[in-house]
Amino acid sequence: MSGNEIREKYLKFMADNGHAVIPSAALVPENDPSTLFTGSGMQPLIPYLMGEKHPKGTRLTDSQKCFRANDIEEVGDNRHTTFFEMLGNWSLGDYFKKEQLRWFFTFLVDEVKLDPARIYVTVFAGDESLGIPKDDESVAIWQELFKERGIEAKAVHIGSEEEGYEIGMQGGRIFYYDAAKNWWSRSGKPANMPVGEIGGPDSEVFYDFGPEFATHPEFKDRQPHPNSDSGQFLEIGNSVFIEYIKQEDGAFAKLPQRNVDFGGGLERIAAAKTGDPDVFKVDLLWSVVAEIEKLSGKKYQEDTVAFRVVTDHIRGATFMIGDSVFPSNDQQGYFVRRLLRRAVRYADRIGIPAGKLSLLAEKVIHTYETHYTNLAKEKDKIMSAIAHEEEQFRKTLEKGIKEFEKVSAKGQISGEDAFVLFTTYGFPYELTEEMAKDKNLSIDRKEFEDKMKEHQDLSRAGAEQKFKGGLADHSEKVVQYHTATHLMLAGLRKFLGHEVHQAGSNITGERLRFDFTHQDKVPPEVLRQVEEFVNNAIKTGGKVKIDMMPKTVAESDATIEGSFWDRYPDEVKVYTITGNNGEVFSRELCGGPHVERLEDIKGTFKIVKEESSSAGVRRVKAVLE
Ligand code: ALA
Repeated sequence: MSGNEIREKYLKFMADNGHAVIPSAALVPENDPSTLFTGSGMQPLIPYLMGEKHPKGTRLTDSQKCFRANDIEEVGDNRHTTFFEMLGNWSLGDYFKKEQLRWFFTFLVDEVKLDPARIYVTVFAGDESLGIPKDDESVAIWQELFKERGIEAKAVHIGSEEEGYEIGMQGGRIFYYDAAKNWWSRSGKPANMPVGEIGGPDSEVFYDFGPEFATHPEFKDRQPHPNSDSGQFLEIGNSVFIEYIKQEDGAFAKLPQRNVDFGGGLERIAAAKTGDPDVFKVDLLWSVVAEIEKLSGKKYQEDTVAFRVVTDHIRGATFMIGDSVFPSNDQQGYFVRRLLRRAVRYADRIGIPAGKLSLLAEKVIHTYETHYTNLAKEKDKIMSAIAHEEEQFRKTLEKGIKEFEKVSAKGQISGEDAFVLFTTYGFPYELTEEMAKDKNLSIDRKEFEDKMKEHQDLSRAGAEQKFKGGLADHSEKVVQYHTATHLMLAGLRKFLGHEVHQAGSNITGERLRFDFTHQDKVPPEVLRQVEEFVNNAIKTGGKVKIDMMPKTVAESDATIEGSFWDRYPDEVKVYTITGNNGEVFSRELCGGPHVERLEDIKGTFKIVKEESSSAGVRRVKAVLE
């Protein structure tokens, strides 16, 4: 069963159970500066989990493109990937545990046809300090489900991961773990959640590949238990019962509705189906591995780590560029750059001839284009961006080699030299080290690492300020900026022409940053006209109205501005801003939220910067003073 088939089967199964199938949101969240990438299926749905009405109702399903930047360095083992697809279904205050656990179990056993005897599950052990009870309800449901398949399911209390190593399986099928393991929120366990964050107990499902896969060296003297890194078990799905929100005093309150947030790793479910936990052997990824074998003349087994890194990174970069995130030194673009540069280095290690990475991207596109139709549309753009980055990086490497020759002529290489080579010339440490070895020179690795740490601490501090500052503390302000952004786009279109469309948006409580399609520099007098247009609208006052309509209707209505149409479901929300004088200032496709009345926007709108963002795209920054 191919990965594509499992995805379609799942969406159909959930649709048959009353779910509306919605398209994947983009990898870069819109209007959510709190995070760089979409890392889970629920992220684009947070307003709806908190109570806002979704145009497609209370039962939703999708396969969401996800990117976990933290995992870049982890790639190389058999299960970590930076990009992955998360199969998801949601109950927005609709069904709850009984339906959810049965559906997922039935899907695995009857649709994917996994052996139920290889399925193990975990549940929340409760937390007295938070007054949240242990999840006996899920245990009873699981026991019934296993019983129907002739399996007696004993529940075992584990607690923490450490305790798991002592206690082991004990013939159990259902395992209680504490909040570090069986509680889910975007920020992890309850203690790590900021005020206003939502989350809840979860129930995870693990597939048992058999003890022959328990190869992790740490497990020589330790007992395996399902939620551990032994290698024997792989988590394939997680049902989160999101019914709590963190309050100012640190306690948890119940949300107005009880939600289900389910996420399942598509490649991992497909791996379970193959009986081999190596996700790279799943056809979705194997098509790339096979192409690498062809281009390099080497076999996967000869250097699995390098094959995995190249495969993962090219797939990640392909999807990113498909969502208009190009390699650059800026925020998200920097991760695409890192992916491609690492891919070049590992491609060299395998012996893939130079200039061939775009051919691997072509394989990715071919594998995924039936579901992610934008990839086929953007194929030329994706392939040429990857080819270009590969070429540029190879030039950088050449410069780095020259610089290396210069510094190594001194007869030694300091940690500082290696640091400068890396940060200024993009020259990877491992290469510096290798080349130093060839010349019988040593490097002070500790000094290099200290410098790097200093550098990272500085940039992390910068990033935290940027991403936490806005949204959490000034959410009202963010909404005001969002509505001002709509007015500004209407102004830009009015004075520059209707070819102007949104190309990206990032809003904090301090400013808006907005990218739009336009070739040339915008003259200052036009920027002043746009400002005047926005300020006049705010001064006039008026209301912001939401209409729901079929996407086809909205798309064919020339008065409605929209971009990224393929990211929206077939039922969409259109926000219309009408002044108290009756003038329609703006009509735009959007997910919200917005102020209800223009009078709620406080301050005078001012464009503080206009610059080029990338070819054919301009960027403005504006504030409400
Ligand atoms: N949001 C849950 C997760 O990412 C389903 O595991």
